[in-house]
Amino acid sequence: MHDEPDIRAVAMLPDRGLVRDRLGRPMRDLRISVMDRCNFRCPYCMPRETFHERYRFLKSSERLSFDEIVRTARVAVGLGVDKIRLTGGEPLLRAGLAELVAEISTIEGVDDIALTTNGVLLASHAAELKGNGLHRVTVSLDSLDESVFERMNGGFGGLHQVLDGIEAALEAGLRPVKVNAVVKRGVNDHTVLPLLARFRGTPVIVRLIEFMDVGNRNAWRPDEVVSSAELLGSIRARWPVRALPGRIRGEVAERYAYEDGAGEIGFISSVTAPFCGDCSRARLSSEGVFYTCLFAGQGTDLRSPLRAGAADDELLAIIRRAWTGRDDRYSELRDPKDAAAQPLRKIEMHYIGG
Ligand SMILES: C[S@@+](CC[C@H](N)C(=O)[O-])C[C@H]1O[C@@H](n2cnc3c(N)ncnc32)[C@H](O)[C@@H]1O
Ligand code: SF4
Repeated sequence: MHDEPDIRAVAMLPDRGLVRDRLGRPMRDLRISVMDRCNFRCPYCMPRETFHERYRFLKSSERLSFDEIVRTARVAVGLGVDKIRLTGGEPLLRAGLAELVAEISTIEGVDDIALTTNGVLLASHAAELKGNGLHRVTVSLDSLDESVFERMNGGFGGLHQVLDGIEAALEAGLRPVKVNAVVKRGVNDHTVLPLLARFRGTPVIVRLIEFMDVGNRNAWRPDEVVSSAELLGSIRARWPVRALPGRIRGEVAERYAYEDGAGEIGFISSVTAPFCGDCSRARLSSEGVFYTCLFAGQGTDLRSPLRAGAADDELLAIIRRAWTGRDDRYSELRDPKDAAAQPLRKIEMHYIGG
């Protein structure tokens, strides 16, 4: 077991400071998958045929403990990370998640703590999460039509719990609250406008995500992707919108505002307009593997050194080496035809986190 490392000890490490990868990109965001399990089986992420009752998920001893997560986060902050997102699998299935938020919020240098959730369990946790230091939340919600919602999540109910979760997040003061909708042709594309209509004039920002070829098990096909350009065309036919300038480097969504002031919409176009050039996102899987790309095939094991008693400066050196050696730009290099044939072994989304 380690003694609890002192924040100041990390601050004083000699190699501390902003690291840059081989393409000059800094490491600013750390996305932490706290749970590989999920209470949904969205076919684009965890299709039932693969993630069935006998699927072997991690044992709890195989997942990083909260202490190990906080320690890794603190070391990553020493290399430039200032934004932490908790994700999964479904992060709210991890018992005591609010305690983890409280611990992360004590790390000096963390400016932003966010959560991505499917929202089913959010209503009862939103206030405590906010009280413990969570800043914002992204809720995945692919359709307001119950049968389409169920088709997109692998056959589960829960639409009303998700909507209650969004309400609870707003009431708790989490800002911004975003809704992520993956759009698949022929499945939920006809329900995009009603989804936007529901949140127009509210503080909720809807972001439309192109169906991506993450992992190797979601039977991705380019003809099922609805491009952001196509969606923008149908949205424009209904409401006038104008493009907004990007705010920060590394921003994943292109933003548009309704001309009538009813809010904004985001588009995440990883397939048709890749944004690797500014990518500052590192990822930590639930079992403690550090990845430098969502589409990575392999990562760097941090759990072994964490459990073997590595000191902070050793962990820092391992993360620094992984980031400085990075030249990933999968989305920019992807040829949709090859991606459909799925030649690469890529890590699954539920395991690495979105
Ligand atoms: C992997 S989930 C984890 C967090 C939580 N379970 C949720 O659904 O919000 C994170 C995000 O990844 C998105 N996602 C998963 N698979 C995807 C795919 N193949 N293409 C695009 N987005 C995907 C989900 O819609 C979700 O917004
Ligand atoms: S997208 Fe989220 S809710 Fe859907 S299966 Fe993946 S982890 Fe679960």
